[in-house]
Amino acid sequence: MYRTHHCNQLRESDIDQSATLTGWVDSARDHGGVIFIDLRDREGLTQVVFRPEENPDAAAASHHLREEDVIQVSGRVARRITGTDNDKLPTGRIELVAAKLDILNKADVPPFRIDRELSNEDLRMRHRYLDLRRPRMARNLALRHRAAKAVRDFLDQEKFLEIETPILSKSTPEGARDFLVPSRLNPGRFYALPQAPQQYKQLLMVAGVERYFQIARCFRDEDLRADRQPEFTQIDIEASFVKRDDILALTEGMLANVFQETLGVTIPNKFDRITWREAMDRFGSDKPDRRFGSELVDLGDLFKSSSFKVFAGALETGGCVKAINAKGFAGVTTGQINALTDMARLHGAKGLAFIKVEDGQWKSPIVKFFSEEEKAELTRLLGIEEGDLILFGADTWETVTNVLGRIRLQVAEYMNLLEGNSDLDFLWVTEFPLLEFSPEEGRWVAVHHPFTRPIAEDEAKLREGHFHGIRAEAYDVVLNGHEIGGGSIRIHEQELQQVMFGALGISPEEQSEMFGHILDAFRFGAPPHGGIALGFDRLVMLLAGEESIREVIAFPKNNKGADLMSHSPANATFKQLRELYVKSTWKGKPAATVPATDPATTE
Ligand code: AMO
Ligand code: AMP
Repeated sequence: MYRTHHCNQLRESDIDQSATLTGWVDSARDHGGVIFIDLRDREGLTQVVFRPEENPDAAAASHHLREEDVIQVSGRVARRITGTDNDKLPTGRIELVAAKLDILNKADVPPFRIDRELSNEDLRMRHRYLDLRRPRMARNLALRHRAAKAVRDFLDQEKFLEIETPILSKSTPEGARDFLVPSRLNPGRFYALPQAPQQYKQLLMVAGVERYFQIARCFRDEDLRADRQPEFTQIDIEASFVKRDDILALTEGMLANVFQETLGVTIPNKFDRITWREAMDRFGSDKPDRRFGSELVDLGDLFKSSSFKVFAGALETGGCVKAINAKGFAGVTTGQINALTDMARLHGAKGLAFIKVEDGQWKSPIVKFFSEEEKAELTRLLGIEEGDLILFGADTWETVTNVLGRIRLQVAEYMNLLEGNSDLDFLWVTEFPLLEFSPEEGRWVAVHHPFTRPIAEDEAKLREGHFHGIRAEAYDVVLNGHEIGGGSIRIHEQELQQVMFGALGISPEEQSEMFGHILDAFRFGAPPHGGIALGFDRLVMLLAGEESIREVIAFPKNNKGADLMSHSPANATFKQLRELYVKSTWKGKPAATVPATDPATTE
């Protein structure tokens, strides 16, 4: 037997018992010949003491212990000497007095200390197996496991079947680029890794499965951010004979179970709902963070005939004027105002008018254009008081909402409005647009994906070719300003699906080549169905209180899509490529996935 207890198990009630522990040397301290070791395993730490006067052999051997050596120690549990208790550790009142030490494996000096936070992420990723030894990471992995278990337990109880779908599959349009895998057996042909199991889960509904789920790996070749990875995990769900509210209630129940089982937290059993249009109007975002105010206020009525041409002009051409009140932020620095203005311009605004309310005065280059009545009405609408900063947008509705939505979040960050905030704000955003026009592609594209159903009232518009403003039976679930999931009720009729593909500019020939299988399946009695997929990494990130999904994925990729530990992506040999009938047209040197200087030697 390697061990009798784990390192977070022994307590005062075990005093005078014998115990054997195994683990890693977290730290070693020499107090005048008496060696103290913090022994670490996955569960926690226990202090081990080697006393030369009691066990000279073990004590002598312990002098050679270094951090991260793997050891086994047997001894007797003792009360710590008064005054040396460590109240931060559950084992902090006892120690193991070592009688026998076995060094199971010596460790080289690690490239970083396991017991400290480390900001060099490249270094962490290069030695991820060491990084994961750190208690915070061990906790995140365990939390992820418990969250997955809570999902499975809940869905099992609700009679959902977990079914795996292919990884080597066919391109499915979720809006990102595909990863392609060349087929050796079918020269010139490629599998696509699934961006989501969307079509398979719908085909399972046609197959009569009725209730499907999968904790599914998805692959999207897109630019990476803190909450995006090229491969990530979804809790993917689909059900037949359901309406939108059935899926919303199911998701609420599942999230309640996850929060209860992982954090012991009870969340509301029903989340607020807001339409996409209202979300954009009030928060300038389709994933509103409602944990702070500064909502967008519409000033269209007020400035219709304003003498400030920027505002009146925007309204005349069918645009809008909105503002937010950044309460108490009149002390904004010039640097911050410039950064906010740059941000507004980057997202298409022509400027960012503002008013600082200081010393009882409105300080702003634009105040001179406002009449006394306009000022009074502005004060009322925005609740303006001493110390406030008002920021304006005047442009098309799309630009104004998008820009002020971003400004609102940035101001909250400048003001640290969310520091120490432990609220959990869940929200459904419903009635997304079905289609949006893509100027780059010169055609209408699906906002969600092409299998999403228009709401019944708007179906005629789709058939008639009036694509603007069609609402979809689609919904996103938002937690604290993060989109943690999205789904929809689907099209299940072949004919309507063809109309939808047609709206997207997909010709009948392309339809049968790309989607023949699903169009075919819809001919043979497809039940009404719908579903949702939750971003499991994002959910666990929020459960763990982390700021990046990389902290809750065992082996994530960096922002270049590389794994610095295994050095993937890697080169392929000429022979491998030849077998796949693939010829690289890349003329340069392969991009390095390893930093030029080995950080292990520089930190
Ligand atoms: P969608 O594309 O909205 O929907 O994805 C669902 C959820 O997956 C998460 N997510 C990501 N997480 C990490 N890295 C990424 N690159 C990434 N992309 C998406 C988000 C998102 O809300 N098939 C549909 C679902 C359906 O209609 O049922 C789909 O994939 O949290
Ligand atoms: P101007 O009259 O162009 O000097 O603009 C006066 C102020 O209004 C400046 O602070 C500009 O940044 C701002 N501004 C100009 N155009 C817009 C706009 N479309 N929306 C919001 N603010 C604007």
